[in-house]
Amino acid sequence: MSNNLLAGKVGIISGALDEKSIAWKVALKAHSEGARFVLTNAPLAMRMGEIKKLSEQCEAPIVPADATSVEELENLFTQAQEHLGGKLDFVLHSIGMSTNIRKGKHYGDLNYEWFQKSIDVSALSFHKMMHVAEKQDAMNEWGSIVALSYIAAQRVFPDYTDMSQAKAVLESIARNYGYRLGRLKKIRVNTISQSPTKTTAGTGVGGFDAFFDYADKMSPLGNAPAEACADYCVALFSDLTRYVTMQNLLHDGGFSSVGISEDIVEALTKANS
Ligand SMILES: NC(=O)c1ccc[n+]([C@@H]2O[C@H](COP(=O)([O-])OP(=O)(O)OC[C@H]3O[C@@H](n4cnc5c(N)ncnc54)[C@H](O)[C@@H]3O)[C@@H](O)[C@H]2O)c1
Repeated sequence: MSNNLLAGKVGIISGALDEKSIAWKVALKAHSEGARFVLTNAPLAMRMGEIKKLSEQCEAPIVPADATSVEELENLFTQAQEHLGGKLDFVLHSIGMSTNIRKGKHYGDLNYEWFQKSIDVSALSFHKMMHVAEKQDAMNEWGSIVALSYIAAQRVFPDYTDMSQAKAVLESIARNYGYRLGRLKKIRVNTISQSPTKTTAGTGVGGFDAFFDYADKMSPLGNAPAEACADYCVALFSDLTRYVTMQNLLHDGGFSSVGISEDIVEALTKANS
């Protein structure tokens, strides 16, 4: 069902790799709510070809950009405004990658070049996007910028290794740039801290199935699915959340407020009997 929440709004959606990607669901939802947008991803992800399907479905042009490159982001924001016929109302940063996680390095054995790459791809890219948007004066007043985070920014999840630091930086960038863009142009900047979700980035984390089930059992509402995350993104892009900014918004079915749940007690009691 559409409420036309984003009628007349235009933006950029990054990070749709395949149908499981959170950004993919955001694109479908934003399209159904009347938005027009440009899709973007790293040139390498483009070669996998999946994004073309989404582009056709949403009638959204694709502009490749490696989010670590200011030059490529400048091209992205310029082309997006050309394609969409003016300044932007929303931007989704849905980008994360850690080679240390991919290669199964534990926290005591991280490769520091890869660590820096994790921070660059997963956090500084968010600063770079907003820097380019500011320099080009690419956003409309009351625009909305959202990035996706994870609770490992605040709590220890051992297998999340250097991505924990990347997410902490990402959330800090949202607060600091949120202050700046709020003062400059009443633009909102927020992060959504999403439940574990079965995507390429998510399932790459060691022990993912266990902590997916754990989070599901801990959360009174269960893990928030990607589709619900898309709904939340659309709500934040819409005019219904105009005074929400500089927040890390937990979208986790209640996980972060629970000490222990009956389901976990039951599972441990069973395991110990
Ligand atoms: N899946 C989860 O459990 C989960 C939970 C909380 C937060 N998140 C966050 O959600 C966001 C989206 O991840 P997802 O779970 O949909 O997985 P995904 O693998 O579908 O998306 C990650 C995207 O990042 C893109 N990317 C990587 N390097 C890039 C670069 N240099 N330039 C541009 N794009 C690049 C990839 O191509 C991919 O499209 C990430 O920030 C992730 O950390 C995921």
